[in-house]
Amino acid sequence: MKDFSMATLAVHAGERTTRPDYTPVCTPVHNSVTYVYDDMRTLDAVFGGERPGYVYGRFGNPTTAALEEAIAKLEGTESALACASGMAAVHLSLLVAGATSGSAVLTAQDVYGGTHALLTQLLSSQGVQIRAIEMTNLNAVAQAIAETRPTVLFVETISNPLLKIADVPTLAQLAHRAGAKLIVDNTFATPCLYRPALHDADLIVESATKYLGGHGDAMGGLIAASTERCKAARDLQKIVGGILGPNEAWLILRGLKTLVLRMRQHCQNAALVAHFLNSHPRVSRVFYPGLPTHPQFTLCQRMFPTNLYGGIVSFEIEAADQEQVFRFMNALQVIVPATSLGDVYSLMLYPAHSSHRALTAEERQRLSITPNLVRLSVGIEEASDIIGDLNQALHSIE
Ligand SMILES: Cc1ncc(COP(=O)(O)O)c(C=O)c1O
Repeated sequence: MKDFSMATLAVHAGERTTRPDYTPVCTPVHNSVTYVYDDMRTLDAVFGGERPGYVYGRFGNPTTAALEEAIAKLEGTESALACASGMAAVHLSLLVAGATSGSAVLTAQDVYGGTHALLTQLLSSQGVQIRAIEMTNLNAVAQAIAETRPTVLFVETISNPLLKIADVPTLAQLAHRAGAKLIVDNTFATPCLYRPALHDADLIVESATKYLGGHGDAMGGLIAASTERCKAARDLQKIVGGILGPNEAWLILRGLKTLVLRMRQHCQNAALVAHFLNSHPRVSRVFYPGLPTHPQFTLCQRMFPTNLYGGIVSFEIEAADQEQVFRFMNALQVIVPATSLGDVYSLMLYPAHSSHRALTAEERQRLSITPNLVRLSVGIEEASDIIGDLNQALHSIE
C-alpha cells in the first residue's frame, strides 16, 4: 500500500492482508460489521442465501454464530438464534409461533413480569387475545384450550418467583392435540437441569443474561428450535433488528464453559439455604422445588432426576411489611440486594418492586406476590457464608 496517501494508509493498512492457515483455539470477537469476498459473485451468493457466509452484522456474525451453535447443542435442537436480550427472544419466539392479530395465547399466569407486560400490554393491543391461567392445573389448561383455541402456550420451566414447575411433556401433548405450539422459557432451569426440546416443546427461550452468561456482565437472549423456526426468527430479526452484538456473544460463550460447574454449585448451595430457611422462626414460607413441601414435589423429582432443583429460593418473612423487608435487605453483607439472577454472586430481589412492578397491586395479590416475599438467587460463594448472612439479616429485624 506504499503508493497511497497517509489518510488512505491509516484507514486500510494492516487490514485484510493475511490469509491465516492457523485456527484460534478460542472463538475471537469478530468486531466487523461488514464482510468482503474475493469476488462480487461470492458476495452475491451469500446475500442470496445460496452459500454460507456473512455480509452484514445484523444478518449474522461469526462470534454470535458460535454461541448459537453451542446453545443448539446444549438444548438439543437443530438450531438457535441469539437476540439482544431475553425479552427480545421472548418477543420473537411468540411472533414466530404465530402470536399475531386474531390469534390467542395461553400463558402461565405467573411468568416473569416483563413477559406478562409484553403479552398483556403490547401483543394484546395488537389484537392478540391473551389468557393467563394456572398452568399447574392441567384440567384448567385443557378447558382454556377448548375455550380459546390458542395458537401458543407459553410457560416457564421453573416459574419466577414462586418456582412452580411446568409439566412440559403433558403441556406439549395438550398443545399439539389442539394444533398449538408450546414455548418454554428455560431461564431458571437451563439445559443443565432440563431440556424442553427433548420433551416436545416447540421453541425454547432463555435470558442469557442469567445463568448462561453467569457473571452479570452481559445481556442476551436465545431461541432454540428447529432450523425452520430459527430461520423464520432470523428473517424477522433482520427486520426488527434486536441482534446480539459479538462482544456480548463472546462473554456468554465464555460463561457457558463453566455452566455445568456453576449450576451444580448453585443448586447444592440453594438446597442447603432452602433447608435452613425452612426451619427459621422468622420465615413463614419457603418456595423451593427440592423441598418435599413443594406442592409439585413428585413432578419435580420426575423432571429433575439428577436431584438438582435450581439455584433460586423464594421465601416470605414472617409478618413483615415492606419497611421491614427493606431493613432486612439493607442488612445483607454477602448477598447483593440487586435485580437479576443466575450470577456467581448471590442476589436478592424484592419482586413487588422489581420483577413484578409492572403488575397492579391486585394482580400481585392474586398471584401471591405478597409484600413479605423475597427472591434469592443463590450464588456460588461458600454456602455457610450465605446462610450466615441470611441469619444475621433476619435477626437484625427482630
Ligand atoms: C424467566 C425470565 N425470562 C426472561 C427474562 C428477560 O430477560 P432479559 O432481562 O435478558 O431481557 C427474565 C428477566 O429477569 C426472566 O427472569
